Amino acid sequence: MEEMKNLSSRAIGNAHGPIYTSKEVEELGIPSTQPVPKPEKCKYCGKTLYYECVVLMGQAMIWNLEKPRCDCEKAVAFWKEWDAKQEKIKKEKELTEEQERRKQKIESILGKSGIKKRYLSRTIESFAVTAENKKSFDIATDYIKNFKKYSAQGKGLYLEGPCGTGKTHLAIAIALAIINTGVPVICKTSIDILSDIKRCYERNSEVTEEEVLEAYKTVDLLIIDDLGKEQVTEWSVPVLYSILNERYEALLPTIITTNYNTTALAEKLSAKGDAETATAIISRFVESSKRVTMSWADYRRKG
Ligand SMILES: Nc1ncnc2c1ncn2[C@@H]1O[C@H](COP(=O)(O)OP(=O)(O)OP(=O)(O)O)[C@@H](O)[C@H]1O
Ligand SMILES: [Mg+2]
Ligand SMILES: [Zn+2]
Repeated sequence: MEEMKNLSSRAIGNAHGPIYTSKEVEELGIPSTQPVPKPEKCKYCGKTLYYECVVLMGQAMIWNLEKPRCDCEKAVAFWKEWDAKQEKIKKEKELTEEQERRKQKIESILGKSGIKKRYLSRTIESFAVTAENKKSFDIATDYIKNFKKYSAQGKGLYLEGPCGTGKTHLAIAIALAIINTGVPVICKTSIDILSDIKRCYERNSEVTEEEVLEAYKTVDLLIIDDLGKEQVTEWSVPVLYSILNERYEALLPTIITTNYNTTALAEKLSAKGDAETATAIISRFVESSKRVTMSWADYRRKG
């Protein structure tokens, strides 16, 4: 075997240099910094496959310990599929890591999901299905099941109805189920959202208004509980509008629970004069979401 034979400089890991097979290393008597790996046999054609290493300063230094690949047809097909599978696993891992990073960033700005302890028991399982609420329940479970699809379309839900019909319960059940799949979700009342933002104006605030707004505008799923209960001011309406509008444009889903139907909500939000903005908020929202009317007796008064 010629010493000069294999001087094509390739890389193994970060090491660049002439590549030798284990067979060449042994035949040439090149000392190795670690035991020379035993050759493998192609399970398809039986050919002997040698591991490769980089030789530096007369020593076999860095071994590529990935299984050597045969170039026969069946082996090539096998490795092609293998590589595709590995690539997919890597992509999925990157996506989860990216999601986790975003979640942590949002949490560091807004605290956890926003769901208060006493509501953590409001799950799909603890929702008692009755003849009258079955349709709403089915919509909620379908939303959870197909969240990926709905989220890609920016589709949310508008849960409307009087007090105590289970709107918040269902919204929280959706939030908990989706959080469980690792997706960042914020679920807060409109009152809490607005007070979070207001708190940024205080001198000792650790986060800026922009950061908080950004978190609401970009979280994967935002649930605004009890929209319309907040004090409507010349400040509150444009703030809510900017959050909903940016989410609408970015195709990010939002779920709203409210005691008002869309007309009444628009009226309520225009109490301080800006009817145009209020109507714009509602009509954009309705366009991108499913309306669910939950109108029956107050569950809290049931005996
Ligand atoms: N179908 C149900 N099964 C079990 N618990 C329910 C059901 N519907 C409502 N509840 C419970 O009744 C209480 C009131 O429900 P919830 O807070 O969801 O009402 P809401 O529609 O959001 O009312 P509001 O408009 O006043 O906010 C909660 O404790 C909730 O867990
Ligand atoms: Mg509620
Ligand atoms: Zn082979």
